[in-house]
Amino acid sequence: MNSKILVTGGAGYIGSHTVVELLEKNYEVVIIDNLSNSRIESLDGIQAITGARPAFEKFDLCDREKVDAFFKENIDISAVIHFAASKAVGESVENPLKYYRNNLVSLMNILESMERYHVPNLVFSSSCTVYGQAKTLPVTENTPILPASSPYGNTKQVSEEIIRDTIFTSDFNKAISLRYFNPIGAHPSTLIGELPLGIPDNLVPFVTQTGIGIREKLRVFGSDYNTPDGSAIRDYLHVVDLAKAHVVAIERLLAGKNKAEFEVFNLGTGNGVSVFEMIQSFEKVSGKKLNYEVVDRRAGDIEQIWADTSLANDELGWRTLSTLDEAVKTAWEWEKHYRSLNPQN
Ligand code: UD1
Repeated sequence: MNSKILVTGGAGYIGSHTVVELLEKNYEVVIIDNLSNSRIESLDGIQAITGARPAFEKFDLCDREKVDAFFKENIDISAVIHFAASKAVGESVENPLKYYRNNLVSLMNILESMERYHVPNLVFSSSCTVYGQAKTLPVTENTPILPASSPYGNTKQVSEEIIRDTIFTSDFNKAISLRYFNPIGAHPSTLIGELPLGIPDNLVPFVTQTGIGIREKLRVFGSDYNTPDGSAIRDYLHVVDLAKAHVVAIERLLAGKNKAEFEVFNLGTGNGVSVFEMIQSFEKVSGKKLNYEVVDRRAGDIEQIWADTSLANDELGWRTLSTLDEAVKTAWEWEKHYRSLNPQN
């Protein structure tokens, strides 16, 4: 058995896929999740794929005493992957304090316990949202960080600053921040995938739910952007590729191969894809026509962004393997599989 890794938010979308990759590499995994935006069933999926069930504790990371007691009892943890956070941009605009409290207090609790119990390694779940609408594309890790366009985005910027400041003063002393572009798709087994509670905010779950008939039509937020087809552009990467990057980051930290105390990597494909291109991809892989209409731009959305992935490619030796169609296909297969088992949800 390899080292023991704490995965916060490990029952969630990216977390559960990462837990699978860790277990497949023989790491011992313990998950903390309050199940606020995830379901306990994802543990069954993880077990069905890997044959192993990770240890699981349900509590809120904002609870300082519980976090501390956890670290005290799990003194053999070698590294933490911190996913657990709220992530709905619109909700963060309506309820900023919820976002600042949840995303920042939980991080500070973890860092304090990592310091106290001498856990040196952290992989942090960051986002391309820290770049805002960059002036030049693609964005590298040195692209200037612009003022955040939402409290959610600000929590990611501030979290990175908190980690950077803490590193130099404590026994917790190595961190990698992974700035994700837009993760999509599901595990090819269809045993785990994205399970948004309620109406999805994100594009791909909305597309697949429309395809299966749960939503009447997709609303395309804006077709008057300054892009080739007028719709907004993002860099969509397969969640399994993204999950594997976390294992690479953990291995880098555990082997002491990091080149600085705090490292940052963009994780994307390097390709920009428009909303209309996403619809075309869905229609191609599903053989279905998607019902959609163009509506106004969504407040807070940026026009276009995609990653320069050279640093992750060269330094981590990581790159995405799935094409857009392959990733969308897994999202569709997951949607069909999940709905066939859970017609009421
Ligand atoms: C944003 C953040 C990302 C964050 C994520 C969390 C940016 C660039 N990205 O992703 O960092 O982790 O929120 O949720 O800030 N769209 C539609 N109709 C829909 C839904 C989406 O047209 O029903 C469009 C959006 O306008 C956007 C694209 O699809 O152009 C992707 O949207 P979404 O999946 O919500 O992700 P982002 O907003 O890019």
